[in-house]
Amino acid sequence: MTTTVLVVNGPNLNLLGEREPEVYGSETLADLVADLDRHATDRGVVLRHVQSNVEGELVDTLHAARHEVDGIVLNAGAYSHYSIALRDAIAAIDVPVVETHMSNVLARDQFRHESVIGAECIGVIAGFGTDSYRLAIDALLNHLASRDL
Ligand code: DQA
Repeated sequence: MTTTVLVVNGPNLNLLGEREPEVYGSETLADLVADLDRHATDRGVVLRHVQSNVEGELVDTLHAARHEVDGIVLNAGAYSHYSIALRDAIAAIDVPVVETHMSNVLARDQFRHESVIGAECIGVIAGFGTDSYRLAIDALLNHLASRDL
């Protein structure tokens, strides 16, 4: 059966390419999605993509994914730092989630140093720009492969 990974982008990531390009680069979300799809095709896996600026929609997305995908790459944006609802949603589903950030959140504002979702995730990747997503996908695939041995 084909492995399916859900890539979830949270608030403000719809503005990639125009939003703070010195932090997040010049690639748009559409460019990123196309690049990640190529990356996944090379590895024989299928990606699904969701972006929402709405916390409840992200919670619903995680719930809906629980019987449909093998793993989740989640850039929850600012919600990573304070959304207990997202943390609880991750805890509620039996699907491995990789917390992902483009920027190195530990090198930025103090309020970005805390993640309330990270403890419910299998790991965290931050600081590599769009490569963070590719690294997160590969880490997730390694995790799934070692779990299924
Ligand atoms: C981000 C980091 C968050 O602190 C910020 O609120 C974002 C993007 C990142 O990808 O680096 O929206 O998750």
